[in-house]
Amino acid sequence: MAFELDSAVPWGRNLKEYQQMFLLSDKDLDQKIISFGDGPASFNSELNNLGKKVISIDLIYKFSEQELKTRFEEVKRIVMPQVRNNLDNFTWRNIKNPDTLELLRGNAMSSFLKDFTKGKKEGRYRYHELPNKLEFKDQSFPLGLSSHFLLLYSNLGTHFHIQSLTEMLRICKEVRVFPILNLDSKKSEVLDEIVTHFKQNYKLYIQKVNYEFQKNGNQMLVIKHQN
Ligand SMILES: C[S@@+](CC[C@H](N)C(=O)[O-])C[C@H]1O[C@@H](n2cnc3c(N)ncnc32)[C@H](O)[C@@H]1O
Repeated sequence: MAFELDSAVPWGRNLKEYQQMFLLSDKDLDQKIISFGDGPASFNSELNNLGKKVISIDLIYKFSEQELKTRFEEVKRIVMPQVRNNLDNFTWRNIKNPDTLELLRGNAMSSFLKDFTKGKKEGRYRYHELPNKLEFKDQSFPLGLSSHFLLLYSNLGTHFHIQSLTEMLRICKEVRVFPILNLDSKKSEVLDEIVTHFKQNYKLYIQKVNYEFQKNGNQMLVIKHQN
């Protein structure tokens, strides 16, 4: 089935949030990073401005700058009242209040949109649907990230997750996934099977990080090649 604009939820985080969610060191940021389900995060654009290299993969990159801008405004009108009506579902520490959240997401979107058309031409934003195979060679990226995509969308099923992570680990030496919760802020239903599957052949662990917005969402899953 074709992926339509009204199914897209362009709602993105920024570089500082990525640094906190994935415990990214300066050394990590100097590496060639690929970020899966990167959506309208400003991670790529902010790092590009600092002269660093990130490739972002997402379904929404098939749409135009204007389409994504319009869709963001629609999503904001739906999401922000939900957040304001359910304040207790979130931890207001890294993000102080709903107004700050709205500002952060708007700023991330603007930074992404400013960079999108140029970045797409440069191959930094690539339309691609996981778990389909990517064109990159085996272990050609030291680090791959998934923020608010894998594990969170547990409704995509265990098979989807195992296939997607298998492809991500084919091209990356290490993959970090944040959070390990589902959309209801409960432990992701697919986590245990993923751990059982990948721990056989990879180094795998769960690590506490410096970021929490969904309540109890302060852990990332790390999977690395053994060699
Ligand atoms: C909640 S957003 C997260 C955006 C960004 N990573 C962040 O944390 O700000 C999840 C993203 O995953 C993307 N996505 C969902 N299914 C996908 C798939 N099969 N392949 C690639 N991207 C996908 C969506 O289009 C969306 O942009």
